[in-house]
Amino acid sequence: MAKLVRGFRDIFGPEAAALTALEASARKVFKLYGVSELRIPTVEQKELFVKATGTTTDIVQKEMYSFEDAGHRLLALRPEGTPGVARAYIENNFAQGSPVQQFFYIGNMFRAERPQAGRYREFEQIGAEFLGNPAPAADAQAILLLKDIMKDFGVKHYSVKINSLGCEKCRPLYRQALIEYLSSSKDDLCDLCKDRLERNPLRVLDCKIDGPKFKESAPKMALCPECEEHFSQVKKLLDGKIDYIVDPCLVRGLDYYTRTVFEFQAGESSQNAIAAGGRYDTLIKSMGGADIPAVGWAMGAERTCAALGALPDYGEKKVYVVSLEKDCNEYAFNIMQTLRDAGIITEGGLFDKNIKGQMKQADRTKASLAVIVGGTEKERGTAELKDLTSGEQKEYLISELAAAIKNIK
Ligand code: HAM
Repeated sequence: MAKLVRGFRDIFGPEAAALTALEASARKVFKLYGVSELRIPTVEQKELFVKATGTTTDIVQKEMYSFEDAGHRLLALRPEGTPGVARAYIENNFAQGSPVQQFFYIGNMFRAERPQAGRYREFEQIGAEFLGNPAPAADAQAILLLKDIMKDFGVKHYSVKINSLGCEKCRPLYRQALIEYLSSSKDDLCDLCKDRLERNPLRVLDCKIDGPKFKESAPKMALCPECEEHFSQVKKLLDGKIDYIVDPCLVRGLDYYTRTVFEFQAGESSQNAIAAGGRYDTLIKSMGGADIPAVGWAMGAERTCAALGALPDYGEKKVYVVSLEKDCNEYAFNIMQTLRDAGIITEGGLFDKNIKGQMKQADRTKASLAVIVGGTEKERGTAELKDLTSGEQKEYLISELAAAIKNIK
């Protein structure tokens, strides 16, 4: 028998229900902010991610599911959504209508990471991208939008970290200062960070092993006046609306970020980022588009559901229909359809089983009410309605049954 591929999962029961509820919360809040849906494909040219996500990232270096198709095209399963959104923005000439566009996407991403709790090879991201607005208001809106989704969905315990990575002017100076500083302690770096030193020295600071060793003493980012002003405006717009911590060591693992970066974190594990993002003002231009600034984020849907703690019971009132005799099966079946037509969640139809078997199934489906019919009920055009919690039972005319069920709290 073929087995599940390592790092991939079947999702069902309360977790599936929680993911659906999270998507509903997100869609509701996206609407409030005027963010519209963009459905991007799962497969893109591998080159898109190599260029956009960045050659120095772990994603591109180690984690991409890439393959050659029958037409010898080099393709990849998307490891993240931002490059696809940027490509779609350029390719569909969205800027022609208005350069300012706000999109969201909901979909699965693929990264061949080492599987562990909270880290999967296929996972769901809910993401938002604000394109064409260089103002700090866009950064602040993106962050508050994310906060509002967390609130609507019910995640209470998380912290928000923000930082500014500067721009093409101020970052190279910082990068160089960091390389010089870290080179003097090269022997103390973990193997991964030895490798990162030249290609992405900023990442050493958020390494779980080396970060704490160098965080305090490493040189700090000196923002140019424009970046400093931008960052202070973002903070001002957020003040009083969301609690956040400025973390000068928050660097993020993707190449395209400029200026503001942020992470929403829950719990202590190394997989504690439930959502993350930032500004990427140079990405669209570097991909051949116009000079369009942008800011966005993506939320890990599974991690966000896990941050709820105990998954809530999304169970709604459900009715289970039981037939006591073969002659009543059609009568019971028709009742099921009548109740569904009235908008009542209804299961049943296990008419090959006796009453015990049917009631057992009612219990398994977590129905709170059972509708039970036999010969007498069929003759009288009625049904017995049983409250499965209290055991109370009452007979109703079929014409009154739906209303009676709706009246029960
Ligand atoms: P990212 O930090 O790579 O950013 O991923 C965003 C979120 O996806 C993470 O914070 C985490 O919750 C979730 N995630 C990432 N990898 C996994 C995994 N293997 N298993 C489960 N969850 C995972 C991006 O992807 C950027 N595209 C975000 C962005 C949008 N920046 C600007 N716009």
